[in-house]
Amino acid sequence: MTTPRGRVAVYPGSFDPLTNGHVDIILRGARLFDRIIVAVLRNAEKHPLFSAEERVQAARDVFAEYANVEADSFDGLLVDYAHLKQATAIVRGLRAVSDFEYELQMALMNRRLGPEIETVFMMPAEQYTYVSSRLVKEVFALGGPVTGLVPEIVEYRLREKRSQAQQDV
Ligand SMILES: Nc1ncnc2c1ncn2[C@@H]1O[C@H](COP(=O)(O)OP(=O)(O)OP(=O)(O)O)[C@@H](O)[C@H]1O
Ligand SMILES: [Mg+2]
Repeated sequence: MTTPRGRVAVYPGSFDPLTNGHVDIILRGARLFDRIIVAVLRNAEKHPLFSAEERVQAARDVFAEYANVEADSFDGLLVDYAHLKQATAIVRGLRAVSDFEYELQMALMNRRLGPEIETVFMMPAEQYTYVSSRLVKEVFALGGPVTGLVPEIVEYRLREKRSQAQQDV
């Protein structure tokens, strides 16, 4: 099979916000594929903290110096989006056994919907195995430090969100 634009992978998720766990997986994917597209799922949650545009922008900012890492948003079926981007792989991260069951279901459903697209799982560095966007938001909302759990830009934008929210009250 010819792949004129190289091997393309999509890494879908809500990334609300992007954590260092996500960054770890993206860096691993960037080594494995010619291009990796961080694909922000729109409307996954009814009330995300960051808009889809803000989440895409955060990924673009963090990976500004990586020519083969892109960020975009999508909705609808992931396999349709993957086809649109001529991607042959879906990248997902596995933190713990607890991720496995859901990820297996998704991977098998996506295989049924798009048999030519392979799901590739990767494990993050151990220090990120407990990091999730939900937990980061919870800790931050309660005033706890999130330094080291998210990229600096994301930490800064979390602060911005908090001061905006305080002004809106
Ligand atoms: N710390 C991490 N290490 C490895 N993979 C991760 C990590 N956090 C998320 N992922 C993976 O990244 C993909 C996208 O995840 P998602 O955007 O749902 O992040 P999340 O941190 O699980 O967010 P939420 O807490 O809102 O569910 C999934 O495959 C998920 O397993
Ligand atoms: Mg999740």
